[in-house]
Amino acid sequence: TLPVANVQALASNNLKTVPSRYIRQALDLEIFADNEIPVINLGKLTDDDHEELAKFHLACQDWGFFQVVNHGVGEDVIEKMIEDVGEFFELPLEEKKSRSVKSEGYGRTFVFSEEQKLDWGDMYYLHTQPVESRNYAAWPTHRPLTFRETVSTYSLEMDRIKTILVGGMAKNLGINEGKFTNMFNNGTQSMRMNYYPPCPEASKVLGISPHSDATGLTVLLQFNQVHGLQINHNGTWVPVKMLPNALLVNIGDIIEILTNGKYKSIEHRVVVSKEKARMSVATFHETHESVVIGPLPELIINGETEQYKHVSFVEFFTMFLSRKLDGKSFLDDLKLKH
Ligand code: SIN
Ligand code: FE2
Repeated sequence: TLPVANVQALASNNLKTVPSRYIRQALDLEIFADNEIPVINLGKLTDDDHEELAKFHLACQDWGFFQVVNHGVGEDVIEKMIEDVGEFFELPLEEKKSRSVKSEGYGRTFVFSEEQKLDWGDMYYLHTQPVESRNYAAWPTHRPLTFRETVSTYSLEMDRIKTILVGGMAKNLGINEGKFTNMFNNGTQSMRMNYYPPCPEASKVLGISPHSDATGLTVLLQFNQVHGLQINHNGTWVPVKMLPNALLVNIGDIIEILTNGKYKSIEHRVVVSKEKARMSVATFHETHESVVIGPLPELIINGETEQYKHVSFVEFFTMFLSRKLDGKSFLDDLKLKH
């Protein structure tokens, strides 16, 4: 991928206009649906509450996105995460850039050509689970001082949430819960921390281009109630207004494939603000590396046909990393043409 300018540094120059490579044509920013995305009570899911399970099933089928409340992640854990990640982005540019090793660390991925439009944001990407997969060369060394501990604690909490959700999905789909959760046990987890500076031409740029997540399940933490995420719900961009203390979850391509499309990996994008910087942390969870990614045979029933190819974990990510973010086109490559 190609190196590009740092957006935080660019934005700090008191710009009046934005370089043309960031300007999008015809952004339909005013088309909003007056819709609220579902809210799922995680405590009730854990207790096998039937009504909550039914709500959860619908959220996975119709929305692919939902907020989770009563998730049991301590406020202190979330506050520390917001503090340490925020502090990291405030470090001098050179110090942040020194935390970039191979495909991990500070910078931007998904840029493949000089013509491609650029996103108005910077990213810091780390492998977090299994612990052996961490490359501490990409992690801060001494500041923020507590970064490692903070991210490790948060990482385990995200893993716990993932397991509850995946278990609930198995119950709702009528498949073996142990088998399904096992596919995600000791799976890979990574975090993408996002920083979107204020933009003088906010209505003409995007913080992240439309895409669906090439993962199993994403859990998103948004900082300080600064909204900006929009999801494509039946062809309309719906702005996500997160409840205080809620986490946002979305189904990724891997779960769409495993469920043969019963659960949807939904396209989303980020818009930015003129006044406020926005920050978020997306935690991605995949199946274990040994799992072949393809529709589960037990879900191919009632004369249904398989909608997706079966590919290995390595094939899946090799394909994903070789392309720019472009809606659901990656998933389309994995679709079988009948
Ligand atoms: C993303 O991971 O797609 C970005 C989410 C966000 O910043 O809200
Ligand atoms: Fe995403």
